[in-house]
Amino acid sequence: MVNSTIIVHGGAGDWPKSKQAVGLSGVRQAATQGFRLLRQGQSSIQAVEAAVMEMEDNPVFNAGSGSTLNLAGYVEADAGIMDGKTRRGAGVALLRRTKNPISLARLVMEKTDHALLAGKSAERLGEAFGLPKANLKLPERAYQWKQAKRRLAKGVLDNFSRNLKLIRSKGQTIVGDTVGALAIDQNGNLAAADSTGGVSLKLPGRIGDSPILGAGLYADNRIGAATATGIGEIAMRLVVSKLACDAMQSLTAQQAASQTINMVTKLAGRGLGIVTLDRKGRYGVAHNTPHLCWASLTKNRGLVSQIHL
Ligand code: GLY
Repeated sequence: MVNSTIIVHGGAGDWPKSKQAVGLSGVRQAATQGFRLLRQGQSSIQAVEAAVMEMEDNPVFNAGSGSTLNLAGYVEADAGIMDGKTRRGAGVALLRRTKNPISLARLVMEKTDHALLAGKSAERLGEAFGLPKANLKLPERAYQWKQAKRRLAKGVLDNFSRNLKLIRSKGQTIVGDTVGALAIDQNGNLAAADSTGGVSLKLPGRIGDSPILGAGLYADNRIGAATATGIGEIAMRLVVSKLACDAMQSLTAQQAASQTINMVTKLAGRGLGIVTLDRKGRYGVAHNTPHLCWASLTKNRGLVSQIHL
C-alpha cells in the first residue's frame, strides 16, 4: 500500500503580509480536507476535488467565489482536473456563475467525451447535473478591480505590456494566481486539479493554463503529477506541467520542480510557480515569484505549510 499524500497550493504571486496568515490557514484547511478522504480510502480524484472546492469557497484565493475580475468587470473562471490512472482529464473555462468550477471539470471528464468545455454551454451542462450556482463576483474583488483600473489609468501597471498598449490605444494588472491540488491515494493513483479566476484585468474571453492539460496540470501514474500557478500564458507556451512530469522519469519531485522553474526563468522570465508529486509520494515546490502559498499532508511527515520566499 502506498503512503497517501496531498499537496495543495493557493497561488504564486505577491502575497501581501496582511493576507499571509489567512492564506496559510486556507491551504492547511484544504490539505486537511483532502487528506481526510485519502485516509478514509477514497480516491485521489475525490481528494483533489475536495481540496480545490475548499479553496474555491474561501474568498482569500483567486478561484471560485474569490475570482478576480476581467477588464470588463466580471468573472470568467477556469478549472481543470486529471486522473493519473486513466490519463483522462478535462477543463472548463469562462464560467460566470458555477459555484465550484472544479466539480464541473470533473463532470466533463467523467460524463462526456471532451477535454475542454467553455462558457454558457458548459454551465448548462452543470445545471443539468444539479451543480450549485453562485454569484462569484465578491464586493472585495469589485473594490480591488476599481483600484487596479485606477492604477492602470495612471500607467502604474506594467504586466501584459501588449495588452496595456492595446487598452491604452483602444479604450488593466495581472495578479496571476490559482489554486491547485495533487494527491496520491493508497492504491498509487495520482490526480491533479486546479481552479482560477485567471489574471485580473484580463481581456474578456481570455482562457488561461488552468483548464489546459499539460499546461496548468498533468497526472500520469507512470511518472507523476504537477500543477502550475502564475501567468498562464507562460505555462501554456512552455507546457510546463507535462515538462515537470516528464522530468520525474529521472528526477525527484523537488528536482523536477526546480528544473522546470529554472527553465521558465531562462526562457520566459518571472511569474510562475509549480508543485509536483511523484509516484513515491514525494513532493516538490518551486517558483520564481515572490511567494507561493502551499501545504502538504501525509501520515509520515504530518502537515507542512509555507509561503515560500
Ligand atoms: N494561472 C492562472 C491563469 O493564468 O489564468
